[in-house]
Amino acid sequence: MAAPDVIVQPWTSRDRLGDIMALVHAAFAGFEPPSSVLHETAGDLAARQRDGVVFVAMANGEFVGSVFCAVKDDALDLTRMATHPQWRRRGVGAALMRAAEREARARGLPKLLLRVRKSLPGNRAYFAKFGFVVTGEGQDPGRSPFDVMERRL
Ligand SMILES: CC(C)(COP(=O)(O)OP(=O)(O)OC[C@H]1O[C@@H](n2cnc3c(N)ncnc32)[C@H](O)[C@@H]1OP(=O)(O)O)[C@@H](O)C(=O)NCCC(=O)NCCS
Repeated sequence: MAAPDVIVQPWTSRDRLGDIMALVHAAFAGFEPPSSVLHETAGDLAARQRDGVVFVAMANGEFVGSVFCAVKDDALDLTRMATHPQWRRRGVGAALMRAAEREARARGLPKLLLRVRKSLPGNRAYFAKFGFVVTGEGQDPGRSPFDVMERRL
């Protein structure tokens, strides 16, 4: 379970988008090669709000986690799932995942979809714990190779 003081909710306001991006940047800092999310701004996040759902986890009014969701074919596609480094392993990621699952079910979508870098087997193991299985792979030009993982609901 997430720490009792953590609340997960969709964030539809245009306020505090910079704070959410700061959290995401903190979570993805140190990736090698660097994550492209480090170049994303509050404007990019506003576009994600328009195109899908941004879930945030909050504790005492601060952002401690987030995940971006968008409908892709018959799936809810999850990107940039992030827990602030100081809040790891306290169930924040699991709480975000439950929110994404509820969103997919509410939309009648039969599966969740995401990508994990092949260079981060820990992440693959993390999502496997939630029931995701590898269903494909790929690599965008100049980017890290990734596995596609899906979870049937
Ligand atoms: C991946 C990430 C979101 C996990 O968030 P989290 O809030 O620490 O995860 P949780 O606390 O909900 O963990 C849930 C379970 O997974 C386990 N777990 C957490 N991190 C793990 C890891 N790296 N590898 C394997 N298991 C892990 C926890 O111990 C917990 O297990 P339990 O319920 O049996 O105790 C976080 O580590 C992160 O922000 N990483 C950097 C960004 C990133 O890589 N995002 C994913 C992009 S695909």
